[in-house]
Amino acid sequence: MAGLLEKIEEMAGQAPAKVKRSDTLDSLEEIRLEYLGRKGLLTSILHGLKDAPADQRPLIGKQANLLKNKLSGLIDQRRRELEQQRSRRELDSGRIDVTLPGSRPWTGSIHPLNQVLERINEIFFGMGFALAEGPEIEDEFHNFDALNTPEDHPARAEQDTMYLEGGMLLRSHTSPVQIRHMQANRPPVRVIAPGRVFRRDTPDATHSPVFHQVEGLYVDENVTFGDLRYTLEQFAAQMFGAGASLRFRPSFFPFTEPSAEVDISCIFCRGKGCRVCKQVGWIELLGCGMVDPNVFDSVGYDSERYTGFAFGMGIDRICMTFNGVNDIRLFLESDVAFLSQF
Ligand code: PHE
Repeated sequence: MAGLLEKIEEMAGQAPAKVKRSDTLDSLEEIRLEYLGRKGLLTSILHGLKDAPADQRPLIGKQANLLKNKLSGLIDQRRRELEQQRSRRELDSGRIDVTLPGSRPWTGSIHPLNQVLERINEIFFGMGFALAEGPEIEDEFHNFDALNTPEDHPARAEQDTMYLEGGMLLRSHTSPVQIRHMQANRPPVRVIAPGRVFRRDTPDATHSPVFHQVEGLYVDENVTFGDLRYTLEQFAAQMFGAGASLRFRPSFFPFTEPSAEVDISCIFCRGKGCRVCKQVGWIELLGCGMVDPNVFDSVGYDSERYTGFAFGMGIDRICMTFNGVNDIRLFLESDVAFLSQF
């Protein structure tokens, strides 16, 4: 068995280099098994020692054990190196660059109609008005009868108002909130009532079957048309700037007498005429008037003692005009690209 010593020598020449060259923990383990595993080259030499000539046994045993210890030492050392390399790589790949700017969470924005509405609310709250609310599903009494609107009035026609089953309808204006508020409160009353209203309109760029109004109502003793005018002028100055002037045109509503439609001088051309105001210099703002005595009668207010004014303002058109929005339908479409501009 003279070959065993040579074999050990050969292994001693090759194995350490192999260990050093191994570049993964897996390949290192393969090398360990090749030499030191249960059926490894060095292990079988040690196991076969009993068959070696007795005079050579001590030397072969000694050399084999030396190599075994040396190899396991080298393998352990290499394993530690490779493990260190691996954890360094893992740390590197997970490293946080603290100088990078953070990612900002997306916060959304307030709907343009609500921005206009909040501004209108603020101004009227500042003048002592309180908030009133009413249902979107109404009955004919609150939407029409109590508002002095006769059975044959065109607004009551099926082609204008959306009727539901059981004599109910989708309110065609916010004026029924006037009735509900007066039924529940004694004068003086001073409220605004914003909300959605519904009409049978074919949708196009300037018409929508759903739009928004702000109703106003002021009832007390000695309330005059002058109070109405002053209130609206104060509102216009705060909403559109001191340069904005109002124009009152005689008009008709069943629930006010006298009635007026109010225009505001175009804030883009200061009344000279431009594309926004279609060259007229004025933009329609709202309808208003002195509360008709018949309306007071229908809610049990003494129409000899009390007077009042009311107004109703469509906010979609206002919002379009002042933001340069050319299609009313955009307000209802929840298009983030559109909404995120506000
Ligand atoms: N309700 C009326 C409309 O929708 C507006 C209005 C309200 C007019 C209050 C006068 C008084 O056109």
